Amino acid sequence: MALLFQPACLGKMKLKNRVIRSATFENMADADGSPDLEILNLYKELAEGELGLIITGAAYVNKEGQILPLQIGAHDDYVMAKWEATIKLMHSYGTKIAVQVAHAGRLINTRFMDRRHLLFPSKGAKYLRFSPVREMTKDQIYKTISDFANAAKRIKKTGFDAVQIHAAHGYLISSFLSPITNRRLDEWGGDRDGRSRFLLEIYKAMREAAGADFPILCKLSVDDFVEGGIVLEEIIPVIQKLFENGLNALEISGGEMFQMFFLRGKEKLNFDYFLDYVKYTFISKISGLKRKPIFFQEAYFLTYAKRIKQIVNMPLILSGGIRDFYVAEKIIASGLADFISLSRPLICEPGLPNRWQAGERHPSVCRSCNRCLYGLIKDNKKLKCYY
Ligand SMILES: Cc1cc2nc3c(=O)[nH]c(=O)nc-3n(C[C@H](O)[C@H](O)[C@H](O)COP(=O)(O)O)c2cc1C
Repeated sequence: MALLFQPACLGKMKLKNRVIRSATFENMADADGSPDLEILNLYKELAEGELGLIITGAAYVNKEGQILPLQIGAHDDYVMAKWEATIKLMHSYGTKIAVQVAHAGRLINTRFMDRRHLLFPSKGAKYLRFSPVREMTKDQIYKTISDFANAAKRIKKTGFDAVQIHAAHGYLISSFLSPITNRRLDEWGGDRDGRSRFLLEIYKAMREAAGADFPILCKLSVDDFVEGGIVLEEIIPVIQKLFENGLNALEISGGEMFQMFFLRGKEKLNFDYFLDYVKYTFISKISGLKRKPIFFQEAYFLTYAKRIKQIVNMPLILSGGIRDFYVAEKIIASGLADFISLSRPLICEPGLPNRWQAGERHPSVCRSCNRCLYGLIKDNKKLKCYY
C-alpha cells in the first residue's frame, strides 16, 4: 500500500491515512455561526473521499474576529452543539475532524461586515490595505487569548478530535508575529520574543483549557514573502518553543491572504481579477512594501519543511500546491513531512484521495485558478469550484 494511505498518529490521534483537508473557508454557516446542512453534505463528500483528517474552515473565536457573514463560529456552546451530527457522520467513515480557530484582525471583509475599525497589533505599521485599524489594548489582548482558550474547551467538549490555531496569512496572530505589522513597544511587540508572545500565550491557554492529551495543531506562516516580514530562520525558534510546550503538529503555510493572487496556476486573469491584482500591487507600492517574488509550483513549501525538519523533530503537515500523487508519496517517503494537506484540489474533486488509492493516479484536475477564493472574498459566495 502507498505510504500516503497508511495509518499514522498525530499526537494521540490515530489517522487512517496521511491525507488531510487543509482548512478551507466554506462560507456556508447560518448567521449565528452554526454549520448549515450544506457543510454536513460537503464534509460527507470529503469523508467518502477517504481523508484521514478534515480541518474545518477558519472559525471565529469572537464576533470581532469574524471575516465574512457566513463564517462558522466557535464562540458559543449553542453553535458548537450543532456540529454533533457532522462529527458522528465523520467518525462513521473513520475520518477525524478538527476545528481551525481564528481571529481575522485587519483582514475582516468590510464590504460585507459592518466594522469601522479593525483590530491590529499596532498603529503606524505598514500593511496591505486601506481600512482604518485600531491598536489592540492589553485588555483586548488578554480577552482574545481567553476567547481562544474557551473555544478550545468547547471544541473538545463537543466531541471534535483536535483543534488547529490559525497563525498564518495575515490573520491577527500572524500580524503579531510579523515585524512589518507589529510595531508595538510593549511586551507584545519589539523583538521576536515579544512578537511571538501572543501566539505562545494563546497556545498555552488553549492547552490548559483542553488538557494535555487533546491534539492541538498550528498553521503557521513561515514566510510573509515581503521584505522585512516573517522569514523562516526567524520563526524556527518559535516553532521550537511551541514543540517544547507540547504542540502536536505544525502545518506550514505563508503569505498574506491577498498573495494567493500570485500563488495560482497559469490561468488567464479575468478582468475583475486583473483589476484587483493591479490594486494590490499599487497598495504594496504606496505602503512601501517590497514583495518577494513568489511562484506557483508543485509543493511550494517543501524546502521550508526540509529546513524545519533539520532543526525541530516534530510532525509536519505540508500544504501548498500539492497536485501529484507521486510527489506526495515521495514527500512522505523522504520523511520531509509526515502528512500532506490539500485545499483547492478537494474543492473541485472531493474524492481525490479515494481515486489515488484506487490506483487512478493522474494529478489533481485543479488548475489553481483561485476563482474559489475569489468568489468568497470578492463576492461573499459559498465555497465552490468555478472553473
Ligand atoms: C477558497 C479557499 C479558502 C481557504 N480558507 C482557508 C482557511 O479558512 N484557513 C486557512 O488556514 N487557510 C485557508 N485557505 C488556504 C488553504 O488551506 C491552503 O493553505 C492553500 O490553498 C494552499 O493549498 P492548496 O494548494 O492545496 O490549495 C483557503 C484557500 C482557498 C483557496
